[in-house]
Amino acid sequence: MLRIKNVGKIYSNNFKALTDINLEVADGEFLAVMGPSGSGKSTLINILGLLDNDYTGDYFLSNENYKHSDDATLSAVRGDEIGFVFQNFKLLNSYTVYENIEIPLIYSKTKTITDCKSVINEVIEQVGLSGKENSLPKELSGGQQQRVAIARAIVNNPDIIIADEPTGALDSKTSLEIMNIFTHLNETFDTTIIMVTHDKEVADFAMRTVYIRDGRLYNDEKSVVRS
Ligand SMILES: Nc1ncnc2c1ncn2[C@@H]1O[C@H](COP(=O)(O)OP(=O)(O)O)[C@@H](O)[C@H]1O
Ligand SMILES: [Mg+2]
Repeated sequence: MLRIKNVGKIYSNNFKALTDINLEVADGEFLAVMGPSGSGKSTLINILGLLDNDYTGDYFLSNENYKHSDDATLSAVRGDEIGFVFQNFKLLNSYTVYENIEIPLIYSKTKTITDCKSVINEVIEQVGLSGKENSLPKELSGGQQQRVAIARAIVNNPDIIIADEPTGALDSKTSLEIMNIFTHLNETFDTTIIMVTHDKEVADFAMRTVYIRDGRLYNDEKSVVRS
């Protein structure tokens, strides 16, 4: 479970990006976060993803507070527990599909080479990219590149996927295909998914939607999220 209590964020230029945010996300939940550009969505999920621990208030991930943890600990926890998917895919362009997906396993060092091969092939199949193992990102469509990014995000079998506008660069048909993959991961493996989106049709795949406006979190048009 993820739980944040009275979280605030002020950037170094004194800009107040988040104010008094309270939110609980249960294990296995699929949550959408919507809100206008500049409202604080990425700021919030960077905190949830342990990419930023310079905030006020408290954040507990599985009852652990990592606010004062060092970078090595944070990256180890991220590597074990969280998979990230971004709008612009963030693939390594000179690496093949297979090599991109392999990266988190190289860092985790917990599996043998044979185990790595079978788990990589398994996730490639799950995202529907069998046969594309040796392709380079530039040889793939946007939707296929996002499938690679999802495979890379799930190869370590994370408890949580954090996705920042994962369909923001995709057409609507491809967006729905990507959402079907997320839904499948959520339903099959109980993976918790926290997804920022601008697109109501995409948000409708989630179990619950919260909204951010001007750095404050709402359940709907009016009511502030209090727990
Ligand atoms: N590193 C930063 N320094 C100063 N201000 C920032 C920084 N990153 C984001 N902001 C500001 O914080 C606000 C929220 O940004 P962000 O979380 O990226 O919004 P969203 O993802 O909803 O578009 C914006 O006004 C943005 O300009
Ligand atoms: Mg953003």
